[in-house]
Amino acid sequence: MYRSQISGLGKYVPENVVTNDDLAQIMETSDEWIQERTGIKERRHIKKGSEDTTAVMGFKAAQVALERANIDKNDIDLIVFATLSPDYYFPGCGVQIQDMLNISTCPALDVRNQCSGFVYALSVADQYIKTGMYENILVIGSENHSGGLDMTTRGRNVSVLFGDGAGAAVLSRSKDKHTGILSTHLHSEGKFAEELSLIGPSTKYWVPEIIKDNPQDNIPYYPYMNGQLVFKNAVVRFSEVIHEGLAHNDLSLEDIDMFIPHQANLRIAQFIQKKFKLSNDQVHNNIQKYGNTTAASIPIALTEAWENNKVQKNDTVVLAAFGSGFTWASAIIKW
Ligand code: ACO
Repeated sequence: MYRSQISGLGKYVPENVVTNDDLAQIMETSDEWIQERTGIKERRHIKKGSEDTTAVMGFKAAQVALERANIDKNDIDLIVFATLSPDYYFPGCGVQIQDMLNISTCPALDVRNQCSGFVYALSVADQYIKTGMYENILVIGSENHSGGLDMTTRGRNVSVLFGDGAGAAVLSRSKDKHTGILSTHLHSEGKFAEELSLIGPSTKYWVPEIIKDNPQDNIPYYPYMNGQLVFKNAVVRFSEVIHEGLAHNDLSLEDIDMFIPHQANLRIAQFIQKKFKLSNDQVHNNIQKYGNTTAASIPIALTEAWENNKVQKNDTVVLAAFGSGFTWASAIIKW
């Protein structure tokens, strides 16, 4: 059996910064409310008229990751693209990246697991490398949230949280048996599917039906979130899935060198940090700058941590995510 390791990382965020004060101009909210409950100070939104889309941002992040991995794009055996905000209803963004990178007929697939999407995608890629089927896989998480949020006071409990951006990793067959992805751990609980969801447009609710059936203030084509239920489940599941990953590898909390939590809410990350008695040097958060970028949040944060030398050779790195589905996941990596 082979082991996979991350051989290159990249990120891309649109340059347009939207501060909490900017949002307070268009809806009833305040910098104080947002910072106190979420830690977010600003986020990036694709500017109207910009070339950026979910696929384009993913492509830009992927180009950086490929360059850093120092491998030719034609050596990519598979593309795995995680997003909840694809450019099209179908096909997925993976095939768009294959075309943008101009890689001849390489397989591409999309993963639809929202905030846990990147860790799920990494796990999918890891299995293909472990079995020996593929040697280099491009894993991307990218989101264009700003195009689909209710930017009025009615949608403020959701819309202030989210930002746009992309992160990418090249996963390659490891040269030694001891470094790379040690294990991944995935879970879901579909009974909570509608508690954090965007119901329409879908095959169940096509746009004309939505407009016909829903009076103005009950529109299911904006995201819905039961914030307190999400918070309560997130703190429990984050903890469980990290313990599961550590125990699987005979590791303990003391072995964690770097913890990269999905950037859902700074309060959730701080709760876990305190519970696990991790120092500020052992956790990387950037939700203050980018908001919640869903499937892009972990690869953006991991790239940033690596760029700032916060991840070193032989470090034990823990990735963990929780989100819509509900789904949750962790990855334990020996760097
Ligand atoms: N600005 C000002 N007031 C607001 C805003 C806002 N942006 N949003 C909601 N409010 C108001 C509400 O209208 C409500 O007012 P009322 O008491 O007069 O009715 C009041 O604030 C409290 O609203 P709640 O929705 O109960 O706010 P809560 O204290 O639960 O905080 C929050 C909301 C921050 C989203 C919290 O529930 C939370 O952190 N949940 C975790 C969910 C999360 O992190 N989601 C991220 C996406 S999912 C993921 O990535 C896992």
